[in-house]
Amino acid sequence: MTKIFVTRSIPGSGLAMLKKRKSIKLDIYEKDQKIPRKELLKRVKGADIILSLLTEKIDAKVMNAAGDQLKMIANYAVGFNNIDIEAAKKRGIKVANTPSPVVSESVAEHAIALMFALAHRIVEGDDFTRAGKYKGWDPNLLVGSDLKGKTVGIIGAGRIGSGIAQRLHDGFGLKIIYSDINRNPKFEKSFKAKFRTKMQLLKESDFVTLHVPLFPSTHHLISTPEFKTMKKTAFLINTSRGPIVDELALTKALIKKEIAGAGLDVYECEPLIDCNPRDHYELRKMPNVIMTPHTASATIEARDAMSITAVKNIFAFLDKKQLPNIVI
Ligand code: GLV
Ligand code: GLV
Repeated sequence: MTKIFVTRSIPGSGLAMLKKRKSIKLDIYEKDQKIPRKELLKRVKGADIILSLLTEKIDAKVMNAAGDQLKMIANYAVGFNNIDIEAAKKRGIKVANTPSPVVSESVAEHAIALMFALAHRIVEGDDFTRAGKYKGWDPNLLVGSDLKGKTVGIIGAGRIGSGIAQRLHDGFGLKIIYSDINRNPKFEKSFKAKFRTKMQLLKESDFVTLHVPLFPSTHHLISTPEFKTMKKTAFLINTSRGPIVDELALTKALIKKEIAGAGLDVYECEPLIDCNPRDHYELRKMPNVIMTPHTASATIEARDAMSITAVKNIFAFLDKKQLPNIVI
């Protein structure tokens, strides 16, 4: 009997697949909320596998609380910065995540939706109209800009970055430039993309969109020098992880009008949107900032794909096969 602890009931067909499989004892945290830390430490005891969400910090303490039999952490997320990878490695625990073409498409669409919403001032227009302020057509009202012919700078040319490049190049006529730790010839060829250093990319881009994982090396990848390098007319889009952007520096750059606006799906201290000193924290009041609550992969299609991927990782582990999405 393999004991699997699921830290919260997940949408999609994955759990039904798990329930059907023999020799599994499934324990699912029953409330539709983030499991409290104390409860997590209690409930993981005896688990062979933990199916975790990105909201749970799975550190050495949780691994110790589970016990020596813990052999796998299946994260229901693409990002895995909530898991202490070193601690897992030391204990011989396998870690898997849930990237897939479907999830990449959802996040790419969301990032592009933020770009369009910013450039065409959709949220401002919605607020304006709902507030009853629309008194007649006005050629100067809420004038934005088009995406066509503009340059998008993609930082991180992986699956999601490629989804963005494909859509914006093939569908909307943008120029694609990118930066990454390595050059990606396929990406360059497919989307006529040009490789740039980060700073050169920031200098040339009308939209900068971030698609790198959160590591110590990517923490505050975009901070004051980067904002000073960007065009005054440029927009920053972040659907990756909050701490990749120095939020206080972003706020200051927006106040000083060093960039034109931002589309944010993730936050440095989320779910708090105000971990920075209050005096500086102005983002929520800015009409040129669009905020979504970490919902870039919140589509029926992506959630389903994520749950199936998480369970396929577990099945591969149980069948002693290569995990489809292994982190370590
Ligand atoms: C969501 O942010 C994920 O990493 O899946
Ligand atoms: C705008 O509605 C136009 O007709 O130009």
